[in-house]
Amino acid sequence: MYSEKVMLHFMNPHNMGEIENPSGVGVVGNPVCGDLMQIQIKVEDGVLTDVKFKTFGCGAAIATSSMVTDLAIGKTIEEALKITREDVAENLEGLPPVKMHCSNLAADALHAAIEDYLKKEGRGEWLNGKKKATKKRTGTKKGARRRRAA
Ligand code: FES
Repeated sequence: MYSEKVMLHFMNPHNMGEIENPSGVGVVGNPVCGDLMQIQIKVEDGVLTDVKFKTFGCGAAIATSSMVTDLAIGKTIEEALKITREDVAENLEGLPPVKMHCSNLAADALHAAIEDYLKKEGRGEWLNGKKKATKKRTGTKKGARRRRAA
């Protein structure tokens, strides 16, 4: 049912715990299963130098928390914001379909911690700009595809 990698991260999770004076904190929960995940980040010169988690949840939630911290450490804020739910699941060599929402929690908690950091830094506008730019680029691509198809 679970990949060997999921089992390894569940049995021996990486980066579990708390950061002293974190730069940002993200907490997300799933109202259906009741699991709760907290991600803390330390940002220095635009790079996530430390990422830690505390998770109250299932084995898959612990494995995805562990994996998302591994993926995020050493990344710039922009790179870390691009880590998706699918990236977390793929790097764990897959999750059973019924457990995919666990990887959603991990990516969402990381993004929430980054958003918290940016807001504290007074850079919430930067984040909104990035979201708008992404939407705009997507719209342009679709438009171009439609134009080529016509
Ligand atoms: S069962 Fe809900 S996070 Fe895993």
